[in-house]
Amino acid sequence: MDQLSQYKIIQTEDGSTTLFSKKFNEACHSTSGARSETKLHYIQGCAVPELAEQKKEIFVLEVGFGTGLGFEETLSTCTGYKCYLHFHSFEIDDELFIYFCKKRNLSFEQTNDFFQVKGESFQLTCWRGDARQSIKKIKQDNLKFDCVYQDAFSPKRNAILWTTEWFKDLGQVVTPEAILSTYSSSSSIRKSLLCAGWKVRKGEKFGPKRSSTRATLAGESDQEILDHLQRSPAPELTDNNYHEYVLRG
Ligand SMILES: C[S@@+](CC[C@H](N)C(=O)[O-])C[C@H]1O[C@@H](n2cnc3c(N)ncnc32)[C@H](O)[C@@H]1O
Repeated sequence: MDQLSQYKIIQTEDGSTTLFSKKFNEACHSTSGARSETKLHYIQGCAVPELAEQKKEIFVLEVGFGTGLGFEETLSTCTGYKCYLHFHSFEIDDELFIYFCKKRNLSFEQTNDFFQVKGESFQLTCWRGDARQSIKKIKQDNLKFDCVYQDAFSPKRNAILWTTEWFKDLGQVVTPEAILSTYSSSSSIRKSLLCAGWKVRKGEKFGPKRSSTRATLAGESDQEILDHLQRSPAPELTDNNYHEYVLRG
């Protein structure tokens, strides 16, 4: 598989490339810069350098493998600190992971549930199929993650991965100190996170967006965000109402 039929390669403003999905009608990254966005929202947003400096090994969970940029940037950060990386990602489209490995000459093992690549300083596991199903297997395996990169397509296009029920599931597969980071600053999403038991803080802005979101199970939410959400009519997103949310456009 040398070509991806359902995707277009797009050049972004920092010189890195991303993929535009014809199925979801959306790009995997901001056109302001795929690599810069990944570094800001996920590497910095989840404090990966600080963790890699302190710990011998870290566990990262990514929602959406896409181009593999999240994995590559995390590995390069961990390698700098000689920290072993356990990187798990969810991906509904097998084609993307196979394409990523082919381009880099990486050999992988394959089961019905996941693809896996083992390196000297990392283990990469890409869970196949719908993340809503795969997370049940992660729970069974009792894995606990230090970082969650919440990087699904946007809530309007990929709503099933932004509901309260989804964030509750994520809350059950993390350490007590874990950080969840996402590019979204939507009030509905922040409400869903709060309803699922996460504390919500404002994250850095990137490109034209005004802010992003960081969440933890410990600590407190930003008061400014809580005040804003109380005034906002936006509904929390749930497994029951997400169809309406998508339809409202
Ligand atoms: C925004 S892209 C992720 C970008 C990626 N983190 C990167 O570094 O390139 C979102 C990804 O989520 C995947 N996805 C969408 N719905 C999914 C689902 N229900 N389960 C698992 N993966 C899903 C898409 O196929 C897509 O590759």
